Amino acid sequence: MPEIVLVVDDDETILEFAKHVLSGLGCQVVTLNDPVAALDYLGREEVAVLVTDNNMPVMCGLELIEKANIVALETVKIIMSAYADLSVALCAINQCQVFKFVPKPWKPEEMADTVIDALQRHRTLQTLRRENENVLRSLAQTIELKDPCTRGHCDRVATIAVQIAKILGLSIDMQREIKYGGWLHDCGKIGVPEHVLNANRKLEADEYTIVKNHSVWGADVARKANLSAVVVNVILCHHERYDGTGYPNGIGGEDIPIEARIVSIADVFDALVTDRPYRKGLSLEETLDLVISMKGKELDPFLVDLFINCQAYLADETEQQCGEQILIKESSEMNRISLRGDYSITGVKEQIPFLAQHLARVAEIRPGALGQEFHHEIDFTEVQVLDTCGCQLLAALLRNLRELGIEAPIFKISDTHRERIHLLGFDVEIFAGEYA
Ligand SMILES: [Fe+2]
Repeated sequence: MPEIVLVVDDDETILEFAKHVLSGLGCQVVTLNDPVAALDYLGREEVAVLVTDNNMPVMCGLELIEKANIVALETVKIIMSAYADLSVALCAINQCQVFKFVPKPWKPEEMADTVIDALQRHRTLQTLRRENENVLRSLAQTIELKDPCTRGHCDRVATIAVQIAKILGLSIDMQREIKYGGWLHDCGKIGVPEHVLNANRKLEADEYTIVKNHSVWGADVARKANLSAVVVNVILCHHERYDGTGYPNGIGGEDIPIEARIVSIADVFDALVTDRPYRKGLSLEETLDLVISMKGKELDPFLVDLFINCQAYLADETEQQCGEQILIKESSEMNRISLRGDYSITGVKEQIPFLAQHLARVAEIRPGALGQEFHHEIDFTEVQVLDTCGCQLLAALLRNLRELGIEAPIFKISDTHRERIHLLGFDVEIFAGEYA
């Protein structure tokens, strides 16, 4: 696949010219005149190079780059501006990690050369990352050698955690860091003696204290290895509990970084469903029931709902289609899609207030069917909590709706929630609901 170069400018003439100049470089040139749409695109696609104008309405180029550094860390950023003063250039280069500054008006050769350099830099970064990735994965496998009964556990935890992150609409960079966190979440177990790690009995108090140290030890190693804050958070906090009774710091709720809350679910799920020397793994249904029973105690209730829904969706294609029919039937009867009710996909009877994730996935698979049935009105007024995850989820849903050509879905939502949605940069028509 050709590398993507994204050019952002509010001036269509410049976009056309840039496309003409850069299309000969063998890359795929994408042009957008809206920085908010550009940010959304950067979170979804792997963009090699971003070339952005600075002086744009709504969001300036520097702000776009600053935000892009969160959702698309590895994208190499170039800023162009007609106001080629030194302070903008310095600010761009020093504060926002901009690769180069191109003063406007730029010459075609100058722009082409800068983008060629940026593409080269991106390739180098990719190579380094692949090498690092191999090292990280081997490290995770080394830990499993110490504890053979958990073989494959780290890989599976990483896969499940990425699945959740993806459905949440987290950026590609974040998904990748969560994968590394999943691989390495137990890397501190290297410091735990094998006779303790593999003990087939109840641990003595002092032995349990040693085992509990693995999250702090692991996080320390990760910090010293210059791994990202996301990876460190996963390792440090994957045994924190949502109700605040976990370890090492006893933090709870949203104080636990979302990446750690995601990996905790994946970790618990895989530990329950797989065989251990002292017990057989539980069935999928028993495991899901147990995971549900941990809502609000060990695990984040919102993420559990999301995970259960996702598991159910992946588990059985036939029943999955059944879920889809219920959904569509419901929408045509009620003239809106309801996000509450006893919704069962695989027989796990559970009140799941948040069906947005499922909607998003259905939309992804059945655009035609859903496009016709969908009434573009989504009622969130029954939703009591719309935390960061909820916003991310809505963002994912909106993206799916946009792909269906539904540009401005109507969201019934409280004022508090409206604020947070706007913070995400989505321009949707939102009506305040009764719930405040
Ligand atoms: Fe652990």
